[in-house]
Amino acid sequence: MDSAYREKRDAFIAAVPKAELHLHIEGSLEPEMMFALAERNGVTLPYASVEEVAAAYRFSNLQEFLDLYYLGMQVLVEEQDFHDLTMAYLERVHRDNVDHVEVFFDPQGHTERGVPFDRVISGILRALADAEDRFGISSKLIMCFLRHLSEEAAFATLAEAEPWLDRIAGVGLDSSEVGHPPEKFARVFAKCRDLGFKLVAHAGEEGPPDYVWQALDTLRIDRIDHGNRALEDEALVERIVRDGYTLTVCPLSNLKLCVIDEIAASPVKTMLERGIKATVNSDDPSYFGGYINDNYRAVANALDMTIEEIAILAANSYEGSFLEPSKILEKRAEIDRLLAMQTAA
Ligand code: HPA
Ligand code: ZN
Repeated sequence: MDSAYREKRDAFIAAVPKAELHLHIEGSLEPEMMFALAERNGVTLPYASVEEVAAAYRFSNLQEFLDLYYLGMQVLVEEQDFHDLTMAYLERVHRDNVDHVEVFFDPQGHTERGVPFDRVISGILRALADAEDRFGISSKLIMCFLRHLSEEAAFATLAEAEPWLDRIAGVGLDSSEVGHPPEKFARVFAKCRDLGFKLVAHAGEEGPPDYVWQALDTLRIDRIDHGNRALEDEALVERIVRDGYTLTVCPLSNLKLCVIDEIAASPVKTMLERGIKATVNSDDPSYFGGYINDNYRAVANALDMTIEEIAILAANSYEGSFLEPSKILEKRAEIDRLLAMQTAA
């Protein structure tokens, strides 16, 4: 692939409309905002400077990251903080031509330290509404349960969410994976399904293929977050392809958390080749060193991907979303038109 092609491909990555389906809003907290909010709220951080923060963000596994992720989110206290955090992310990805986001939030990361659920969700929702007005970005909100906590705690969070149910599109499962299999949350996910929520779960990031099976068969999820280790199990791959599940892959996250040892080992291209609906996402962009287009560029370069493959990833991001079918068709046609223009040029 020559440099002219790579340039054209980078331009396509920048221009193509795309949805982000795997983004923890607390993971978009940039060090500068972390310091500003710490000052505003009188919270003491163990870092002296932005440089010290950057130096601390070296992780050898998921847990090492999670420890700093929960530490960083302690600066989020007021409703305005959650608004500012969310708005900063939306402004940033608007520049990456993201026009639909399905945002995760971790209410238990806040309620556990005394910040009321209502304050968290109202700040996030206010920013999502503002971004729809200002940028035309549509959104869905996904409430995640922390899997290192009990299922009882997840039920308590669901009860707190009661007044907001019509503004929450789905529920997810995140935090420390190994030792906390999906089946631990079978009852609360069954209840969420009865309530009409879309269901997603992190599975197969560090955990074994069996956790992906459990997410599909026991939790009956609609979409798989990460899912890297599904590739170790041929029957599982066949099941994912047959039933058309979307996987939300996060290349820079995988690299930073040592799920892969180089970007060239990202499973994105293999998944596409196997017929899996893979998507590219940023996960926790402030902690992992890149927003969504950085993730697209990283895999495109390392895996020598074609512009057509980039278009498939972008189309998958809408197809795997919880948008209404007519909107998905519209976005698909828009991507096809852009692709036709690029390849004709
Ligand atoms: N995995 C699990 N939990 C998380 C992640 C992740 O990548 N990011 C934020 N919480
Ligand atoms: Zn994640």
